Amino acid sequence: MPLGVPERKSNSMASSTLISDTEPWKDLKGHVEEIKETHLRDLMDDSTRCKSMMVEFDGILLDYSRQRIYQDTMEKLFRLAEAARLKQKIDSMYSGEHINVTENRSVLHVALRAPRDKVICSDGKNVVPDVWKVLDKISEFSERVRSGSWVGATGKALKDVIAVGIGGSFLGPLFVHAALQTDPEAMECARARQLRFLANVDPVDVARSITGLNPETTLVIVVSKTFTTAETMLNAQSLREWISTALGPQAVAKHMVAVSTNLTLVEKFGIDPKNAFAFWDWVGGRYSVCSAVGVLPLSLQYGFSVVHKFLKGAASIDDHFHSTPFEKNIPVLLGLLSVWNVSFFGYPARAILPYSQALEKFAPHIQQVSMESNGKGVSIDGLPLPFEAGEIDFGEPGTNGQHSFYQLIHQGRVIPCDFIGVVKSQQPVYLKGEMVSNHDELMSNFFAQPDALAYGKTPEQLLRENVPNHLIPHKTFPGNRPSLSLLLPSLNAYNIGQLLAIYEHRIAVEGFIWGINSFDQWGVELGKSLASQVRKQLHLSRAKGEPVEGFNFSTTTLITKYLEAQSG
Ligand code: F6P
Repeated sequence: MPLGVPERKSNSMASSTLISDTEPWKDLKGHVEEIKETHLRDLMDDSTRCKSMMVEFDGILLDYSRQRIYQDTMEKLFRLAEAARLKQKIDSMYSGEHINVTENRSVLHVALRAPRDKVICSDGKNVVPDVWKVLDKISEFSERVRSGSWVGATGKALKDVIAVGIGGSFLGPLFVHAALQTDPEAMECARARQLRFLANVDPVDVARSITGLNPETTLVIVVSKTFTTAETMLNAQSLREWISTALGPQAVAKHMVAVSTNLTLVEKFGIDPKNAFAFWDWVGGRYSVCSAVGVLPLSLQYGFSVVHKFLKGAASIDDHFHSTPFEKNIPVLLGLLSVWNVSFFGYPARAILPYSQALEKFAPHIQQVSMESNGKGVSIDGLPLPFEAGEIDFGEPGTNGQHSFYQLIHQGRVIPCDFIGVVKSQQPVYLKGEMVSNHDELMSNFFAQPDALAYGKTPEQLLRENVPNHLIPHKTFPGNRPSLSLLLPSLNAYNIGQLLAIYEHRIAVEGFIWGINSFDQWGVELGKSLASQVRKQLHLSRAKGEPVEGFNFSTTTLITKYLEAQSG
């Protein structure tokens, strides 16, 4: 047994077998070789097959017919799910079992959007009343700020908010804010308010976050699960300084609030715990957008009722995921297809391509949720994985991406794509008398790209078009490139919640199948501790002139050069 591999505990996540040692996995290994013989354009000819690969739930249509699968591939993937005990693992998550075994925690972000009357327990305690206590507090507080009954130190209403946080304490709220910004109902509720984010410790980001704002009318929310993250703490101190320099130290109480699981450190920082909004260790940072992490800033901007719709959308998918048979279960289907693409075809990446500018921050958010969750090298039992887990997620809204990286996707590497489209635009479409509106133009590309990837263009077609011989290799599209399409009815707060939960659960499904712990993130620690050594060195060299030591030649040279150039 490798060093440090613990004895297996009795936990529904533990397994005596790696998934790659099971019969269904080996069966799929053989099956993929057969499929490699068949081009997607031939698979797409079979409309019975295509029809069987469409699923609808609550207004959302998933079409996965452009995946490189036969009709019986899904059966084989369901057998893989059974071997991985997927159903039991999903149930364990919902029942509050400590499935995050390395941190000994439940994983209950589903409780954050549960209705008041639902019972979801962690360690024998129903957590839903605690969730609603905080939601009610946010609703009341945000209304006071929005209505001007909570005022700043000089008696002025607080119309602008800066949310200071990084990673999971930033990316999810940013995605939802960007998506709501042009939703008519949310716009109406936002009135003249502004919501900004400060994430990067770069002083440039600090400057950008406050430029044009008046401390008298600004509320700062410090968002940090641990309240120890170096970047967030430094940025919070910078904004505290900005407020107290302008308005005096006593103004901090009126202009700074916090969201954290660590209320002791919040108080130590100088924020009144009465103005702190709690969440719990059973909420992973990257799964925290439905906690006060997202709900507070978004409610201040758009009002609680809009945010409540977002929570309801996520809750609808939570129920669907928990109770729908796998054949019709959107997150399960998506998760299994991702495993298929990564582990059997060996495609390392996935492109997230929303044909919606409002979803411009969706890919960066999912990038964290996915890559921090599933970028693991060992099984949940600590055994090295004999296969690669996780995928490289990236993306941009269409059609912008088409004019950037699609060349590689069409004729270079094979990257499975998620196309996300919206039936009804958030905004009015102009040019009604013309052939197509802006939205039709956008959606024409959404419909066309998956076929371009699947079918490609053959040399024979090009010859028929009289393309000169020397250009034929350059103009040939190999096709056979998988994608899936998700069509949403519209993009309001409810649909945004649905989309979020679909991806959160899809990522969990992938991790459950691979047999890894998708809910810890030890891989971020080493860099943090090395940065802390450098931080100490910079301080010692500056304050006491001490030489740079304790690092390798390369790092020593770089740090020395930095210090010399700065003091010169
Ligand atoms: O990057 C690592 C990480 O721990 C993320 O998982 C987390 O979302 C982020 O840092 C911020 O952490 P915190 O909310 O504790 O400041």
